[in-house]
Amino acid sequence: MEDYQNPYHGPFTAWKIEGFVACMRMALCKSKGASVWHFPFWYLSANAGTGLNNGCEGEAIRFLREALKLSRRNIRACFCDIEPKCLEQLRRNVQSIFGELPDDWDLKYYPMNNIKFLDEVSKRIYEEERNPNEALGLAVFDPPSGKAFPRLNVVQLARRFRKIDHVNHWNLSWQAMEDGCNQAGQKGHEHFLPPSEMIEQIPKDFWFVREPCRGNSGQQRFYTLYGNNWRESRNRFADFHSTKTFQGEYILRTYRRFGDPNQGLLFE
Ligand SMILES: C[S@@+](CC[C@H](N)C(=O)[O-])C[C@H]1O[C@@H](n2cnc3c(N)ncnc32)[C@H](O)[C@@H]1O
Repeated sequence: MEDYQNPYHGPFTAWKIEGFVACMRMALCKSKGASVWHFPFWYLSANAGTGLNNGCEGEAIRFLREALKLSRRNIRACFCDIEPKCLEQLRRNVQSIFGELPDDWDLKYYPMNNIKFLDEVSKRIYEEERNPNEALGLAVFDPPSGKAFPRLNVVQLARRFRKIDHVNHWNLSWQAMEDGCNQAGQKGHEHFLPPSEMIEQIPKDFWFVREPCRGNSGQQRFYTLYGNNWRESRNRFADFHSTKTFQGEYILRTYRRFGDPNQGLLFE
């Protein structure tokens, strides 16, 4: 069978994945604490893709690698994509890269819209967890457009499961283009969701914003946010800064200016 290639990758895919991996390490390390290491770890991938992007390992494969490296038991990996071919390819990629995975791991594939996915996975957590409110894990949102980000369901997920951390990655340029905001003077930024608004809408106690990708002037703009409800927050990890620090605030402020059609290029 011929390999299926997901069209959603570009020159910044490797940078994006590096950011996801930093967040995976944070969430997985926290889940190795003495009181929680044997509880299931829920990995919810809402836009999973195929796991390989032109030779670059995608988020789904990298998560499995990180969890193996840390010998995390009881992984519940839930991969969703609206495109069934993507998930068929992901399943084949997982099989050919890893072969056998630990017996107490459970991988499931959800070929559906991620609105339905979040609903199904929430039901599953309620059924399988003794104390669902304490369910641990990480949810990753990597949508190709605003429409593929189920905002209300994401908020609901965050309210239900406080210990499932969130990573959101957005292509701002794409959004801006969709909304016609690059056409000077045009109104209509309904789908444009700057990170400052995202962190207000999704109830997490701590948010971290990643330093923007350098050297992409005139090209596409992305942001990555990581949110958790841990008892204490660090100021930074990898190239992510707490939004409560000067540097984090500065990055958020700069992104906010992106909505201004007169603003020109960012980060130059
Ligand atoms: C940027 S790609 C994902 C790449 C992947 N996360 C990785 O790291 O390799 C976005 C994916 O979202 C999927 N998608 C688009 N709309 C969706 C929706 N409403 N629900 C679920 N998946 C969707 C696309 O089919 C595509 O595979």
